[in-house]
Amino acid sequence: VDKNSQRLTIAIQKSGRLSKESIALLEACGFKFSLHEARLLAHSSNQPVDLLRVRDDDIPGLVMDGVVDLGLVGENVLEEARLERQATQLPAKINILRALDFGQCRLSIAVPKEDNYRGLADLEGKRIATTYPFLLQNYLQQQGIKASTAVLTGSVEVAPRAGLADAICDLVSTGATLEANGLVEKEVIFRSTAQLIQRPEPLTAAKQAIVDQLLPRLDGVQMARE
Ligand code: PRP
Ligand code: ZN
Ligand code: MG
Repeated sequence: VDKNSQRLTIAIQKSGRLSKESIALLEACGFKFSLHEARLLAHSSNQPVDLLRVRDDDIPGLVMDGVVDLGLVGENVLEEARLERQATQLPAKINILRALDFGQCRLSIAVPKEDNYRGLADLEGKRIATTYPFLLQNYLQQQGIKASTAVLTGSVEVAPRAGLADAICDLVSTGATLEANGLVEKEVIFRSTAQLIQRPEPLTAAKQAIVDQLLPRLDGVQMARE
């Protein structure tokens, strides 16, 4: 990504729960894109706008560092990145422009269904597998529970069966993943939807003009499908 480019760059998830709806929303706002599976960068054919398709976990950092101008990302991923960056003294400022009407999910603690779970106190001294260690530890600390974490970036749901952890803390949308892995949701620690975020430093006038045009369109699109 050329930081001096006059094209507005928007980071979206390359493949995952938010990908399709992110592109659909931007197209509904009037941007046309032709996507090539193998390419990270997609130019809009009718606006000075580029899409950068990356892992969702990379989006908050790219926006906070101003490498891209805007991003579409889940609140859970954003909040985790914020906590991690605060802990490591990296820049963590961001402008949240809009909460979006897709990507609803919750970050929950789940345990094997054969466990006789009675409450959070049962997790004291246990190990919990998660991709979101900062959100999890924040919550456990508030609740006065000491548990350790096993950080996995994928396949979190198999950790208990594999003997890597006693419980998991992961995103739940339909619940199918938990069900398929013999896990039961016990505590909801965070509720999330997709967000449109903007880098903290001001945009050039040309880029700001595109954002000023995008936002009312986005509001219109979201209002119409309420
Ligand atoms: C989350 C989570 C589960 C799945 C749960 O992954 O890690 O795999 O969604 O959804 P369900 O309740 O509908 O089965 P996500 O799509 O966020 O992808 P990622 O873990 O690759 O970022
Ligand atoms: Zn992810
Ligand atoms: Mg997953």
